[in-house]
Amino acid sequence: MTESEFDGEAEPMRLLYYSVVPTSCSRDDLKSILASSRKYNAINSVTGVLCLDNRFFFQVLEGSRRSINHILGRVMHDPRTTDVNIVLAEPLAEPAFRAWAMAFVGADSLSRRVCERYCGDSVFRPDRMSSRSARAFALDILASLVSGKKA
Ligand SMILES: Cc1cc2nc3c(=O)[nH]c(=O)nc-3n(C[C@H](O)[C@H](O)[C@H](O)COP(=O)(O)O)c2cc1C
Repeated sequence: MTESEFDGEAEPMRLLYYSVVPTSCSRDDLKSILASSRKYNAINSVTGVLCLDNRFFFQVLEGSRRSINHILGRVMHDPRTTDVNIVLAEPLAEPAFRAWAMAFVGADSLSRRVCERYCGDSVFRPDRMSSRSARAFALDILASLVSGKKA
């Protein structure tokens, strides 16, 4: 056994969760969420994407277990969202979103095709996604970020 095997908190992981938007998320709220996310995440080598479609946030977080747990704790106490639901937590070999401290995908970029394919609904319903379809959805978003096309 090597020493690093006893530093589990440094182990890279990926977390997918969705949460509820209490009433609405104003432009200013979103701006401030993204600004503090990008600041903290860049310092702590965390990457990912945040999706927002009026009722729900869906976020992919990649980074050390220590940083991800810290962020999750802050999000759970953040009044701008409620009902945080973890969809998937897995060990990570390579961060897929390494180019983004926190990318953003809004409602107008989530096409009906994507919603039907991964949520089984014409609107964005991350609460309906299995962990498998949530991971496939995250990779679909990644492909659209890379190509600059609509997800
Ligand atoms: C849906 C959602 C996602 C968030 N994601 C992150 C994140 O990835 N990283 C982060 O540091 N803060 C994130 N936050 C913000 C934290 O909850 C918290 O408000 C912020 O880190 C406090 O930053 P400050 O110290 O600049 O005030 C998120 C908040 C919400 C509502």
